Amino acid sequence: MRISGAKNSVLPLMAASLLTSDRVVLRNVPRVWDVFTMKKLLGQLGVSVTVTEEGTAELQASEITSRRAPYELVRTMRASILVLGSLMGRCREASVSLPGGCAIGDRPVNLHINGLKKLGANVELDKGYVNASAATLTGSEIYFDTITVTGTENMMMAAALAEGETVLLNAACEPEVVDLADMLRKMGAIIEGDGTAAVRIRGVKKLSGAEHSVIPDRIEAGTFIIAGCLAGGGLKIADCCPSHLDALLDKLKDVGHTFDIGDNSVAILPPGKSVCQDMTTRPYPGFATDMQAQYMVLMTQTAGSSVIDETIFENRFMHVPELKRMGADIRTDGGKAMVRGATPLTGANVMATDLRASASLVLAGLFAEGETIIDRVYHIDRGYEKIEEKFRSLGASIERIK
Ligand code: EPU
Repeated sequence: MRISGAKNSVLPLMAASLLTSDRVVLRNVPRVWDVFTMKKLLGQLGVSVTVTEEGTAELQASEITSRRAPYELVRTMRASILVLGSLMGRCREASVSLPGGCAIGDRPVNLHINGLKKLGANVELDKGYVNASAATLTGSEIYFDTITVTGTENMMMAAALAEGETVLLNAACEPEVVDLADMLRKMGAIIEGDGTAAVRIRGVKKLSGAEHSVIPDRIEAGTFIIAGCLAGGGLKIADCCPSHLDALLDKLKDVGHTFDIGDNSVAILPPGKSVCQDMTTRPYPGFATDMQAQYMVLMTQTAGSSVIDETIFENRFMHVPELKRMGADIRTDGGKAMVRGATPLTGANVMATDLRASASLVLAGLFAEGETIIDRVYHIDRGYEKIEEKFRSLGASIERIK
């Protein structure tokens, strides 16, 4: 089973095409809805974007005809905020709708705004929009109170075309941040320290085009690895990057699962005796919040009790009531969920609420007795490419009925 390119990499990479009038070519682009939402948004800003069936995207922002990201698009995809940094870098002007609340939490963008102000931008909130402008952007030291992935990416893009040096402190270390830095360097940016908490960017006058291949999606890989664990082994995940999965694989080894880890593959072997393990979500290299819901399904099917502590988002347990309806024994208390396993799951009609919650319901449905129908499945299509085809190729009985 092959893993697709990372959704959370391709979105900032596409946004970075705004930084140059030259052509940017991306390979290993996943054909997921968020990519097409970003294509639409960039199109409205004047960027020509094509995405082939084979997953090659060509983007060219010869001329930027609008600097406004409208509410209609931003509300369907929060990652639209990524055009804030790139528009400021290139045009010194941007108007981006505030994303508003979301199914997994409040998700403010104050750190993006503070960062731009540190670079000398004038930023005002008006009628639900962040309006930013600057005569010049000047490098500065930006300390993030909270580690923010897209905030770090936005500041890297704005600072790449600022005057002088910017240092980002308490920066996100996620592989997707490193992937963006890698492409920005190909475009001529001077960036070092990405992948650590201190990223140094020396601004340049101009960036050029580049060709870049998107890293494999570690969350898709993790979701299939959990499926392999639930199945009791016998599954091999190819074209992934095991070093991006350390926290997950370590935790699963503690639970009792065994793996054969290659350079670009993970084979899930039959487990020894498995026992529930507590888990706390953390920024990378910690256990990803985007894998919390899927891990919880595994815990419902593993003997013992475990506490899952969600520390990144305040409302990321929307899958819990649905899993309980399928027979899971879970109690929540604020950001903590107590899971008691193993309880048999039974098929039910359930509702998807966000991308990763939906993935957990697919996993639960595949290992439940009887039929499960998942409503609002469009959430899954935002970030998983052909999930039902991939699971079918592994022998699962799953079909899209609408
Ligand atoms: N935060 C603030 N202020 C800000 C920005 C963030 O307080 O200005 C807080 C958030 O509320 C949250 C924490 O900081 O509590 C971390 O949020 P972060 O900014 O890192 O999240 P993000 O950049 O909006 C990205 C991914 C998410 C993933 C998170 C955490 C993309 C496009 N999205 O979101 O992916 O969960 O990082 O790793 O990269 C998903 O793919 O399903 C998904 C939600």
